[in-house]
Amino acid sequence: MKVITLANLKGGSAKTTSTAHLAHAYAAQGKSVLVIDADPQGSSLRWSEQGEWDIPTIALPVKNLHTRLAGIVSPTTDVVLIDTPPLDEHAGIVYSALRAADTIIITMAPTMLEFERLPDVWAAIDEVESLRDDLPNVAVLLNRTITNANSTPMFRDLITDSGHIVLATTIPRRESIAQAFAAPVTDLGKYADAAREIDMLEKIK
Ligand SMILES: Nc1ncnc2c1ncn2[C@@H]1O[C@H](COP(=O)(O)OP(=O)(O)OP(=O)(O)O)[C@@H](O)[C@H]1O
Ligand SMILES: [Mg+2]
Repeated sequence: MKVITLANLKGGSAKTTSTAHLAHAYAAQGKSVLVIDADPQGSSLRWSEQGEWDIPTIALPVKNLHTRLAGIVSPTTDVVLIDTPPLDEHAGIVYSALRAADTIIITMAPTMLEFERLPDVWAAIDEVESLRDDLPNVAVLLNRTITNANSTPMFRDLITDSGHIVLATTIPRRESIAQAFAAPVTDLGKYADAAREIDMLEKIK
């Protein structure tokens, strides 16, 4: 079983959108997927209900998720995706979701506003790593990218130069994704590639 936590410092970085699409991408690979909505806002859970997902989705906005996970997830589950609230609003929940993760995906747009928030995210991950026996895979997934804009390679380089991994796959800004909430997830787009790439991440430290 692989546990993937999606996180960032602030709201609106496409954590929920990415959780929904990656969950469907793994299900499309034939994997047994569980979504845990650790955000008290419950957006992933609402999306799963209104969009009539086949993927089981449970709300668990708790600070001890890392200790409870083993008792919740069935042994036949292949991939658990954890959608989180903003770190700056619910640090306890997010820390727990980071502790539970084999892989941590930081979703962000390639903008200076979002780039400047990264040090706080790395600090939280460092703190969590000191509490763990093993180290998680950590990577940035750039989303809302504009085709052929300089911002994508520019922020990729800035993040890579600071010693962090950026997935080669980026998720373009699309009206179909912006309007995807609450509907069935039928168009995986680049998220299918992102799911495969996340699977191939190796331990980085
Ligand atoms: N690739 C994309 N193209 C266009 N719009 C997008 C894309 N990805 C996400 N969005 C939009 O960006 C907004 C924020 O996305 P989302 O709700 O997934 O963020 P979040 O990180 O889960 O936010 P919160 O912390 O408030 O839960 C939404 O309106 C969503 O539709
Ligand atoms: Mg969300």
